[in-house]
Amino acid sequence: MILEAIVKTTNQQTPRYGRRTALVLAATLLVPAAGMAQQDETLTEQVELEEAPEAGSEGYHDYPGMDELPDGEFGEAVRSGMEAFVNTRQHPEARRHVGNGQNCANCHLGSGMAANSAPVWGAWGIYPKYRGKNDHVNTMDERIRGCFTYSMNAKGSEAGAPPEPDSQLLKDMQSFMFWAAQGAPIGENLPGRGYRSVEEPEDGYSISRGESIYEAQCAICHAEDGSGKFTADGEQIFPPLWGEKAYNWGAGMHRINTAAGFIKYNMPLGKANPVEKHAALSDQEAWDVSAYINSHERPQDPRWEGDKATTEENWHTHKCLYNHEAHGHTLGEGTE
Ligand code: HEC
Ligand code: HEC
Repeated sequence: MILEAIVKTTNQQTPRYGRRTALVLAATLLVPAAGMAQQDETLTEQVELEEAPEAGSEGYHDYPGMDELPDGEFGEAVRSGMEAFVNTRQHPEARRHVGNGQNCANCHLGSGMAANSAPVWGAWGIYPKYRGKNDHVNTMDERIRGCFTYSMNAKGSEAGAPPEPDSQLLKDMQSFMFWAAQGAPIGENLPGRGYRSVEEPEDGYSISRGESIYEAQCAICHAEDGSGKFTADGEQIFPPLWGEKAYNWGAGMHRINTAAGFIKYNMPLGKANPVEKHAALSDQEAWDVSAYINSHERPQDPRWEGDKATTEENWHTHKCLYNHEAHGHTLGEGTE
């Protein structure tokens, strides 16, 4: 409660950098749990990744197969971490932190192994990484907690928050990543890391053209109203793309450029292929349909500043439709 009040006042009164410093100071003074200060300091941004180099003649990192899973304690950790990544909504520990209808592997295809679909083996060797933007060394622990916060909308989950720093769940998920990255060089932006970038077409994008593409090529799986498909007992068949069960307004996928890059080489599922870098849509179509998906409401940005204009000013100066007009209303209301 005390911390919440401080967050509120410091949010309103001080500029971004000062606000964070003030918050961390206040938190360390008043809250004995050391993790709290770190939580608020580090979960403030989803960073756009720099584009990875093209694959050379040796191709992509040769990640191990399931038949190479080790036995013993390490094998158990890898198995549990992989399960948390692929079936996040079912994993006994991870599910407590999922506040929507997503699994991690929905956006990291091939169980987190597919090149050009932000594979875990491409991410592993990059962290910890110093970032000038938040003047801070970013760890993998924080990166994963950030994904829970935004892509999995942890605020709406049973736990109401991402996993605790240094928790067994985060250790297991990192054991999985470490295992997948065996033999890959550390600290290098490997070919296949992240998603491909697709440059914005010269004439921009069109939400209404995007709508036609969506209806013809996407709605069959993701549903006309973007809510995805679930079994009667709530298991996911196809992930939601907007609405209350989708990624929230703070997730990387709400940026039009980021979703266009993902869609171009990953969707429609079965037609595009990220590993072969095979696309089913043109750049223009990828941008149009990305804009259409992201022109709908979704859970509020957890960094909500009390009004849309301030939230936009502080967190949405990139390519997105937060606090913009679409379908007759101003986006950014949230779905709660
Ligand atoms: C044949 C079914 C199918 C079709 C058609 C399809 N998708 Fe998907 N889509 C999926 C599945 C399944 C996933 C999750 C992938 C996984 O878990 O391996 C997914 C994931 C996504 C995601 C990741 C984001 C999230 O919130 O989960 C986006 C964005 C997306 N699809 C957009 C599209 C677009 C745009 C089209 C049309 C151009 C499309 N999809 C067509 C099945 C489909
Ligand atoms: C709705 C789609 C979506 C979901 C669900 C999702 N992610 Fe991501 N993830 C992204 C995007 C997009 C990026 C690229 C960063 C950006 O552009 O914001 C990313 C980046 C990452 C990275 C860094 C990759 C790199 O090379 O630096 C890691 C690690 C990661 N995600 C792990 C996870 C984990 C773990 C989960 C589940 C708890 C998860 N993601 C769920 C979309 C998603």
